[in-house]
Amino acid sequence: MTKPVYDKHYKKQNYFGEPYPGLVKFFKEYEPKCNVLDLGCGQGRDALFLGRLGYKVKGIDISSVGLDQMNQIANDDNLDVIGEVGDVYTYPVSTEYDLILLDSMLHFYKGDLEEETNFIKRIALELKVEGVLANFMIKGAKREKHLKSVLNGIGIDWEVLCDDYTEYPESNAQFHMYIIKKITVSNL
Ligand SMILES: C[S@@+](CC[C@H](N)C(=O)[O-])C[C@H]1O[C@@H](n2cnc3c(N)ncnc32)[C@H](O)[C@@H]1O
Repeated sequence: MTKPVYDKHYKKQNYFGEPYPGLVKFFKEYEPKCNVLDLGCGQGRDALFLGRLGYKVKGIDISSVGLDQMNQIANDDNLDVIGEVGDVYTYPVSTEYDLILLDSMLHFYKGDLEEETNFIKRIALELKVEGVLANFMIKGAKREKHLKSVLNGIGIDWEVLCDDYTEYPESNAQFHMYIIKKITVSNL
C-alpha cells in the first residue's frame, strides 16, 4: 500500500479547506441523499459536508491521522459518516453504494497513469447500474480527455449529470467536475 504521506499534512486541521463551491451546489441539489463511498476521504472535508446534508458516507483512506479527525467530528456531530483505513486501489465498490466520490485522487501524471487508469476502470465496472461516479480533478485538457476516453471505452453507457468546472478558492485553481450515472452495460 502507498505510504500515508498525508499524515504529516493532516497535523494541520482542515488542510484542504472547504469543499469546492461546485461540489456544494451539486450535492445540495442532488436527490436522493444516498449512500456514498468517498475513496481517499482524507480529513473528511467532503464526507462531513455530505453527512451534514443527510448523506450516509463511508470514507476510505490510508491516513489514520485524517480518519481519526473525521471520525471524531462525525461522532461529535452525530453524522452518519464513518472512516476506515484501507487501500483505495483494492477497496471493493459493492452494490450498497449509490455514489462513488473521488476528489483529487486522479491526476494522470506519467508515473501514475497506468495505476490510476486501472483504478478508475475498476470502479466504473464494479459500480452498480444506476450508480453515480463523481470525480473532481484539477483542470487539464489532456487529463480530462483521458478520463472520458477510459470511461467511454469500457462498454458502459453513461448519463452525464455534470461536466463543468468549479473554483478552488484556497489555491486559486479550477477543478473539473465530471459526474456520471451508469445507465447500461452494453459491451462486456
Ligand atoms: C489529495 S488528498 C485528497 C483528500 C480528499 N479527497 C480531499 O479532497 O479533501 C489524497 C488522499 O488520498 C489518500 N490516499 C492516497 N493513496 C491512497 C491509497 N492507496 N489508499 C487510500 N488512500 C490513499 C491520501 O492519504 C490523501 O488523504
